[in-house]
Amino acid sequence: MKYFIAANWKMNKTISETREFLEGFIPMVKDITDIDIVIAPPFTALSAAQDGMKGSNVLLSSQDMFWEEKGAYTGEVAPAMLLDAGCRHVIIGHSERRQYFHEDDTVVNRKVRAAQKAGLGAIFCVGESLDEREAGKTFEVIKSEVEQGLAEVSPDNLVVAYEPIWAIGTGKTASNEQAQEVHAFIRKTLAGLYSGKADTIRILYGGSVTPENVDSLMACHDVNGALVGGASLKPESFYKIVSFKKEN
Ligand code: PGA
Repeated sequence: MKYFIAANWKMNKTISETREFLEGFIPMVKDITDIDIVIAPPFTALSAAQDGMKGSNVLLSSQDMFWEEKGAYTGEVAPAMLLDAGCRHVIIGHSERRQYFHEDDTVVNRKVRAAQKAGLGAIFCVGESLDEREAGKTFEVIKSEVEQGLAEVSPDNLVVAYEPIWAIGTGKTASNEQAQEVHAFIRKTLAGLYSGKADTIRILYGGSVTPENVDSLMACHDVNGALVGGASLKPESFYKIVSFKKEN
């Protein structure tokens, strides 16, 4: 399975900063063909990013979208608008959307279905909080988020990201064992939904991924890529991540 490594820039980078990043980054990765490299800038920089990536092996993603096709939804962006802007993927259900913008499983599910309907690949995020982990509820939370978020969703063009909330932006990475354990559990839950197709779905790890820890995380059996926040903001650092050392 081809690894999938996505940069989630969150609310960072202006248009000129996006251009500057890509001028440095695109030449660095031009020979990397065995990994899907994806960048998700803020909406305002999508167009500049699309220009900067043209003809390259790097794919554009959005960080969110609305599920309706068009209409009176002030401030929102429709799936077809993202396709029009050059996006191939969209991140959906990130814990920051769930936490600060009150997106629940029903909202997340609507968005995943709308993305698929429009032809965008969904990068669907799940993850437990520290309280939930300490209360022994990790598997319960993950199972519920996966099953509800993916109700009536096709396994095609779907990527799942496991992002333990306690590891996001905190410098605390899940250990390889913790990551593998939850990834295997997600794979099993996907098998319950999609039987044989579960093995074709890439499951990314996200939460304080850095050039230092990426090799060992990517060596975990059920880890098929990464969703990277802070360490994706500098070309050199994100380049080191996408050129991680693979096990033979
Ligand atoms: P981080 O963010 O790499 O800064 O922890 C990851 C994410 O939220 O996608």
